[in-house]
Amino acid sequence: MKIKDKRILVTGAAGFIGSNLTHYLLELGANIVGIDNFFNGRLENLDEALNHKNFQFHKGDIRDFNFLLDIFKDIDIIYHEAAFTSVPQSIKMPESCNDVNINGTLNLLNASRKRDVEKIIFASSSAVYGDTPTLPKKEEMSRIPISPYGVSKLTCESYMQVFHHVYGLNTISLRYFNVFGPKQQDSPYSGVIAIWLGQIIKNESLIIFGDGNQSRDFTYIKDVIQANILAAENKLSGEIFNIGAGSPIKLLDLAKLMLKLTNKEELGIIYDPPRPGDIIHSFADISKAIEILKFQPKYTQEQGLRDYFQWFCKKYKFDLKIK
Ligand SMILES: NC(=O)c1ccc[n+]([C@@H]2O[C@H](COP(=O)([O-])OP(=O)(O)OC[C@H]3O[C@@H](n4cnc5c(N)ncnc54)[C@H](O)[C@@H]3O)[C@@H](O)[C@H]2O)c1
Repeated sequence: MKIKDKRILVTGAAGFIGSNLTHYLLELGANIVGIDNFFNGRLENLDEALNHKNFQFHKGDIRDFNFLLDIFKDIDIIYHEAAFTSVPQSIKMPESCNDVNINGTLNLLNASRKRDVEKIIFASSSAVYGDTPTLPKKEEMSRIPISPYGVSKLTCESYMQVFHHVYGLNTISLRYFNVFGPKQQDSPYSGVIAIWLGQIIKNESLIIFGDGNQSRDFTYIKDVIQANILAAENKLSGEIFNIGAGSPIKLLDLAKLMLKLTNKEELGIIYDPPRPGDIIHSFADISKAIEILKFQPKYTQEQGLRDYFQWFCKKYKFDLKIK
């Protein structure tokens, strides 16, 4: 199967991962339909796509079944990125998280069945594992989420598998581990790297929640895109794959690395109390994706950070002296 000949729907197309995926797929020559309700996404993220002849955009909500049926015309593949994505927000508003993530995904699956979609690739999360002590995380390990967001992603994975077993729909879930890169928003609810870059730009100290010994398997967006392409091209269905860099870094070391790369070591680090729902350690065993999907992460965290900072400086005409 050649993805460039496909008509692809990207949900959450105006978000961080959805917009990067959209641009990459357009470059490959695919036809893309993007949807987003702008709950968190920005039209600006799609600036290069909006005038592309192979791109159509529809503002709408994945919870609106009739909207989905209307736009599902000859769709071959769906990349389902739309979601209520913030762990702290999901703790404040569990019903909203449940509604968007679970009801919205179920809607999408039902519409896909009705319209004979070939395959759905679902953006799941390392949050499904919760804080279980065993590391690295393997796909078959126990999953005990500690936030409504984690529960919603685990439930959606189960729906992906049920729709494969019961209705014969082709589905794959990719459990992303802390993705970072261009177009990620600097907001209190987004990834820590975008937030810290925002603090560096404003010449502020970097804020760490907790003692900084927590670790994460930060994964560069280009590697996540690679995994999504491989997942679409693979014939397997009903499967779940960890997608990470496979190399964890402590938050304190990451903060120091970001300050060093941007020549801003003098800004220093401030420690705030830990936040509920935050996992202490997260580290992906990616051997299943390597073996079956032939996934091979190409970016170390340092290479990813450099690539991201260079994009940022060019885009926003910002003069950071990147080391
Ligand atoms: N960024 C990460 O580190 C990470 C890690 C694990 C999993 N994920 C998952 O990857 C996917 C993409 O994440 P992201 O970082 O790009 O987040 P994002 O918030 O930038 O993108 C999500 C997009 O979905 C849209 N959306 C929200 N509710 C919607 C609705 N009801 N109907 C239509 N669109 C809606 C938002 O407006 C936004 O543009 C999400 O499913 C997220 O849970 C992300």
